[in-house]
Amino acid sequence: MLNVSGLFTEYVSDKGVVVQAAKDVSFEVPKGKLFTLLGPSGCGKTTTLRSIAGLEKPTHGLIEVNGQAVYSAQKGIFTPPNKRGFGMVFQSYAIWPHMTVFKNASFPMEVGAKKYSPAEIKSRVMRVLESVELAQFHDRDATRLSGGQQQRLALARALVMEPQLLLLDEPLSNLDAKLREKMRFEVKKIQRELDITTIYVTHDQSEALALSHEIAVMSSGRIVQRGTPRQIYETPNSTFVADFVGAINFLDATVKAINPGEHSMVLDSEIGVIETPNPEGFLVGEKVQVCVRPENVHLSDEAPHLNHANHYLGLVHLKIFLGEVLDFQVKIGGKLMLARVHPHQKTPVDHPIYIHFDPSNCVVFKR
Ligand SMILES: Nc1ncnc2c1ncn2[C@@H]1O[C@H](COP(=O)(O)OP(=O)(O)OP(=O)(O)O)[C@@H](O)[C@H]1O
Ligand SMILES: [Mg+2]
Repeated sequence: MLNVSGLFTEYVSDKGVVVQAAKDVSFEVPKGKLFTLLGPSGCGKTTTLRSIAGLEKPTHGLIEVNGQAVYSAQKGIFTPPNKRGFGMVFQSYAIWPHMTVFKNASFPMEVGAKKYSPAEIKSRVMRVLESVELAQFHDRDATRLSGGQQQRLALARALVMEPQLLLLDEPLSNLDAKLREKMRFEVKKIQRELDITTIYVTHDQSEALALSHEIAVMSSGRIVQRGTPRQIYETPNSTFVADFVGAINFLDATVKAINPGEHSMVLDSEIGVIETPNPEGFLVGEKVQVCVRPENVHLSDEAPHLNHANHYLGLVHLKIFLGEVLDFQVKIGGKLMLARVHPHQKTPVDHPIYIHFDPSNCVVFKR
């Protein structure tokens, strides 16, 4: 449905310095899917979204919607934003304070180039207000809504024109943690119910994992990995992605032996010998980094069976109670390993503890 290809967008600062904010950005989004641009502050997410909207003019590339170019550097095409038919919700969404909920949502229909009859406006606005569960508040002053309700109203306003593409830039960032989590489900529900193709921008990895059909992780203006939430989380292609999408342990190691038949290798690491998968391309003697997610690090008070790989004895250094899980920092030699376990694990601080992780849960990168 949406095809972005080889997109470059730059800014020229007041001192004349050129900032390349989007570099060779390419992705496709099939109809009805939610695609997320995820990355740290300043990596070029908003720039990419604004380029799709037509609010920034790229320097190179192609943006097509249903095979129709809205921007093409080669053909000199640039469709102005109001002719693209996209809906947008910005990071700092603005609710118009002197209007009712209904008026806020109907405004785009009243000021647009296309004329609608009052009956048409009423039926469409009430339909979108129903989909965001605000219909009962239609005649209320928009300022007399909670933060989450205002957020849903901003969404309704973007949906009322029945856009072919919905662009959302950190739409939940103004909400408190609890409400953000609730709204996450609502955005997902509305997006899935209306089957509306959506580009979602966020720097919050858990939001991206929870909402998306596909995620593109960005760094310094470039997409560094694309994949389903599970692929991004379980098989990151770099230490940057591994680190950005969730807590992780990094271990410095050196390849000691490769077992080609078993697709495994043995490494010397800062906590001892580690067995890992061998995804090819590694050589004996090579310096690597091993990544293990804390929820894959298991703890036990008893010594494990000796024939299992990747067991180590450490000391409990620190415990952090997070409610549904308990984080243990376990000291092995000079290294602190993070393990995320069920709170029933009661081993006190300074007591010995065994840790174990499965070779298949290790991801290895060249250093
Ligand atoms: N109007 C502008 N003029 C000059 N430089 C800009 C402008 N807007 C953004 N930039 C720069 O372009 C780069 C990308 O900015 P962008 O707003 O796309 O980042 P972002 O990923 O959306 O970050 P955040 O998560 O903080 O919103 C940054 O280095 C930023 O400083
Ligand atoms: Mg931004």
